[in-house]
Amino acid sequence: MAKIGSTPLMFLLLCATFGAVLSANSANISTDQAALLALKSHITHDPYNVLLTNWCTSTSVCDWVGVTCGSKHPRVTALNFSYMDLTGTIPPYLGNLSFLASLNIRQNSFRGSLPIELTNLRRLKYLNLGNNSFDEEIPSWFGYFAQLRGLWLYANEFTGVIPSTRGSLSKLETLSLFNNNLKGQIPVTMGNLSNLKLLYLDYNSFSGSISFSISNILSFVKRCFIHNNLTAGHLLSGIFDNLSKLQVLSLTGNRISGNIPNSLCNCKDLEYLSLWNNSMEGSIPIEIGNLSMLQSLYLDHNNLKGN
Ligand SMILES: *[C@@H]1O[C@H](CO)[C@@H](O)[C@H](O)[C@H]1NC(C)=O
Ligand SMILES: *[C@@H]1O[C@H](CO)[C@@H](O)[C@H](O)[C@H]1NC(C)=O
Ligand SMILES: *[C@@H]1O[C@H](CO)[C@@H](O)[C@H](O)[C@H]1NC(C)=O
Ligand SMILES: *[C@@H]1O[C@H](CO)[C@@H](O)[C@H](O)[C@H]1NC(C)=O
Ligand SMILES: *[C@@H]1O[C@H](CO)[C@@H](O)[C@H](O)[C@H]1NC(C)=O
Ligand SMILES: *[C@@H]1O[C@H](CO)[C@@H](O)[C@H](O)[C@H]1NC(C)=O
Ligand SMILES: *[C@@H]1O[C@H](CO)[C@@H](O)[C@H](O)[C@H]1NC(C)=O
Ligand SMILES: *[C@@H]1O[C@H](CO)[C@@H](O)[C@H](O)[C@H]1NC(C)=O
Ligand SMILES: *[C@@H]1O[C@H](CO)[C@@H](O)[C@H](O)[C@H]1NC(C)=O
Repeated sequence: MAKIGSTPLMFLLLCATFGAVLSANSANISTDQAALLALKSHITHDPYNVLLTNWCTSTSVCDWVGVTCGSKHPRVTALNFSYMDLTGTIPPYLGNLSFLASLNIRQNSFRGSLPIELTNLRRLKYLNLGNNSFDEEIPSWFGYFAQLRGLWLYANEFTGVIPSTRGSLSKLETLSLFNNNLKGQIPVTMGNLSNLKLLYLDYNSFSGSISFSISNILSFVKRCFIHNNLTAGHLLSGIFDNLSKLQVLSLTGNRISGNIPNSLCNCKDLEYLSLWNNSMEGSIPIEIGNLSMLQSLYLDHNNLKGN
């Protein structure tokens, strides 16, 4: 029974492997060239004529400005068009750059929606779309970038909520979403991003409780910026119990109420703490004096008393 049952399975596995090898082989540098020419055709404004004059089929794509190819495989591994003041959209073709590990288009005027074909970029480690004009929701399929280390979407006009991504961003170390139009709760699933070190959520309009959604996150991040509008309620007394890695915490302007927990003194590496412009009450815990690394402390615009 087992033998009969396993034969078709083996066959299927072989076919699948063979199919994968075939499709990997059929994509080559010509595929990458087609993808980049599609991108070029989606650029509507190129003030310094970078792509217009430089991206010509008479030279190898690997020699084009902003393009880096791998040393082992002659395939495009990195694109960097930052600071080129380009206006345009991202074509689905970009998803054909199957060796792409880094896509950096920060500081341009790209707009429109992000095509789902980008999920084919299985090797993508760094995706920087910061300071562009993207104004739709953050797609939930970002969760499929299993290799992603850094995701920068700051200074756009992304709307809606942070999606509770399925899939896995377990390698993500930097998440920068500041300066967008995001709202809603910070999803609990962010607590799964256990390699996250730098988190920037400031200048959005999040709501909901800070204690519940981010106490998990704070246990592994080093730097966390959430200047917002959370109807925060109290900081849970346990929130600082185990934050040994935290170096920078900014919770400016969140309407957080209640006392500053004494457990703050467990954050031994804390260098910067801002609870500025909240509704905190009670006295400032004397244990703050134990934080020997602390260089900046902002507590004003609260209802705190004492020395
Ligand atoms: C890429 O593959 C296509 C067929 O899939 C082939 O026609 C073309 O010559 C190849 N290009 C290079 C540069 O190998
Ligand atoms: C990308 O390009 C910008 C501007 O030319 C440059 O400052 C930056 O170092 C580049 N980044 C990488 C990773 O090559
Ligand atoms: C690349 O992607 C486009 C759009 O996603 C697709 O239609 C096309 O067949 C692909 N081209 C190649 C050469 O793989
Ligand atoms: C975004 O780009 C503009 C124009 O180049 C610049 O003035 C601004 O400082 C940038 N903002 C960020 C957050 O990088
Ligand atoms: C992600 O977090 C949620 C809520 O904390 C949990 O239920 C789920 O099992 C986690 N998923 C993964 C893949 O770790
Ligand atoms: C903050 O929240 C309050 C109450 O929910 C709302 O009225 C206000 O517009 C919000 N402010 C910002 C800047 O999002
Ligand atoms: C503190 O965190 C460490 C590692 O992140 C974990 O092993 C430990 O169980 C945590 N302790 C408490 C009290 O949560
Ligand atoms: C304090 O934060 C609130 C948002 O919670 C904001 O509306 C207000 O302008 C801030 N106050 C100051 C002095 O910045
Ligand atoms: C923190 O400071 C308090 C009061 O100054 C002191 O009694 C306590 O032993 C200190 N705790 C640690 C862990 O250093």
